[in-house]
Amino acid sequence: MPSVPSVPSVPLVPSVPSVPGRFDVSVEHLRSTVSTKWNKFGPDVLGAWIADMDFQVAPPIAEVMQRYVSSGFYGYGVATLKDEMIAAFVDWWSGHGLSADPGRVLLVSELVQAMHACVAAFSSPGDGILVLTPVYPPFFGAVRDQGRTLVEHRLHRQSDSGRYEFDAHALREQVRSARPRVALLCHPHNPVGRVWSSAELQVIADLADELDMLVVSDEIHADLVFAPHRFRSFASLGPTTSNRTVTITSPSKAFNNAGLRCALMHFGSTALLERFTDQIRGDLLGVPSVPGMLTSIAAWCHGREWLGHCVEQLRENRDVVASRLLDAPNGISGPLNEATYLQWLDFSALPGVRVALDADPTICVSDLLRERVGIACNNGPDFGDDLRHFARVNFATSATVLNEICNRIERFAAMHTA
Ligand SMILES: Cc1ncc(COP(=O)(O)O)c(C=O)c1O
Repeated sequence: MPSVPSVPSVPLVPSVPSVPGRFDVSVEHLRSTVSTKWNKFGPDVLGAWIADMDFQVAPPIAEVMQRYVSSGFYGYGVATLKDEMIAAFVDWWSGHGLSADPGRVLLVSELVQAMHACVAAFSSPGDGILVLTPVYPPFFGAVRDQGRTLVEHRLHRQSDSGRYEFDAHALREQVRSARPRVALLCHPHNPVGRVWSSAELQVIADLADELDMLVVSDEIHADLVFAPHRFRSFASLGPTTSNRTVTITSPSKAFNNAGLRCALMHFGSTALLERFTDQIRGDLLGVPSVPGMLTSIAAWCHGREWLGHCVEQLRENRDVVASRLLDAPNGISGPLNEATYLQWLDFSALPGVRVALDADPTICVSDLLRERVGIACNNGPDFGDDLRHFARVNFATSATVLNEICNRIERFAAMHTA
């Protein structure tokens, strides 16, 4: 690692005390919790990595948790909780165009587990699995750790807008030749912030149909979409598509209860569900926690108003990032997010970054950001090979912290212009 100047110690202006449902939680409070985002690195480092929001949960979630804690009962929950959870999912997801069948839902504790289980159930060692990259790192684990073959389609970036797309013709050619058994779709896509359009989804659906490919659609970010973009569940394209789709999702990204571990899988047909349960015994998967279900039910039954405010706040934050980091002549570029609070940034135009990374092939730009200006963000190479000049920054934070994140990244850019 090249020698680095020490992290500048700029005091954060204390924000107002946190109020449930508000979006201005102080760093002092965050560091006093068990948050890994805020406690993994030293006190001078701002947490802008793992996908939690620095916001208080919606009041209905806080209330149900308070009641749960004060009840003093932490044993097994009644069976009706599962029914309520599934009913809440069916109702909420009808808003995303999905006609979900309550009889074809499996409750699990997390999406990554569900994705691994789908790969295990619907493919064999050596089979190809299609993934559009750069992508959320556990997608690679689900393929490689189970001895499957990665069929990687690299998204390309529009030079003017920074928007990531796939070339339908190239994708068709690649998939027809590699014939993957399963596609792992990330919709909306982390980290490039795309909400796939119906036309784009249809390209994948047609390929799936043509090649008898199963699609696992990870829709965990579905509720974090910025107008005028609209989210449509992949399985809603029609019965042929639905029959070969497993939708996996959770309220945990939109409602910030990821630590409580609650997710679900929806199978587009009974045959698909049976194929899955023939391969993966229910006891291997486990079930969500009681507080996970309680808070997820509260989110989907009573959280809509709060979510509206949350997405408004995220949209403001996205625009701050765009105007301060993407639109400024600072050598940094990236897409304008259509969804998610995870911003993909490209630092490859900064000469000083290129020099530093050329001098040490073991590091990436996120190491420099952490060492030189005290920002912890996610490493580009975790999202795909050859991405050392990229980093993912989480902008779901207070105005105070976001301002300081932008200050530090601007300073980083200025330090590396030569
Ligand atoms: C696309 C995507 N899928 C899954 C997850 C993780 O879900 P879980 O914690 O339920 O495994 C994340 C977390 O950020 C994500 O961005």
